Amino acid sequence: MRLPMSPYAEIPRPVEQAIDVLAQFARVTELWSPKVIAQVNDQYVKVARLLGEMPWHHHAGEDELFWVLRGRLRLEFRDHVVELEPGECCVVPRGVEHHPVCAEECWIVLIETVTTRHTGNLTTPQTRSIEEQLS
Ligand code: NI
Repeated sequence: MRLPMSPYAEIPRPVEQAIDVLAQFARVTELWSPKVIAQVNDQYVKVARLLGEMPWHHHAGEDELFWVLRGRLRLEFRDHVVELEPGECCVVPRGVEHHPVCAEECWIVLIETVTTRHTGNLTTPQTRSIEEQLS
């Protein structure tokens, strides 16, 4: 059966069908390497597995949402810390420096503008191209 595809996505994404979000983690074979599971307007919905930390960074013109499904995520900001439990999410506003830290493996949903580089203003060994994130 041919799946309906969004006519608006740059790279065709399935629409009008159920997406098993947890099953999408089967595509995630590396830590800190997000995979795109859907596109909504100019936003990508991604899944990722995190463990350890990502360096301090920011996204100059784009907000970013972290939604924890499993494990715990500590989001450090310069003036406070947010501890996310399963079922909780947090929006990091554009321009705000943040430092994600996971003492245990954490499974998250990320919502980011299609142009957002997930490692923000930094290029690190963790940086993945959008082609890799769509694969
Ligand atoms: Ni970020």
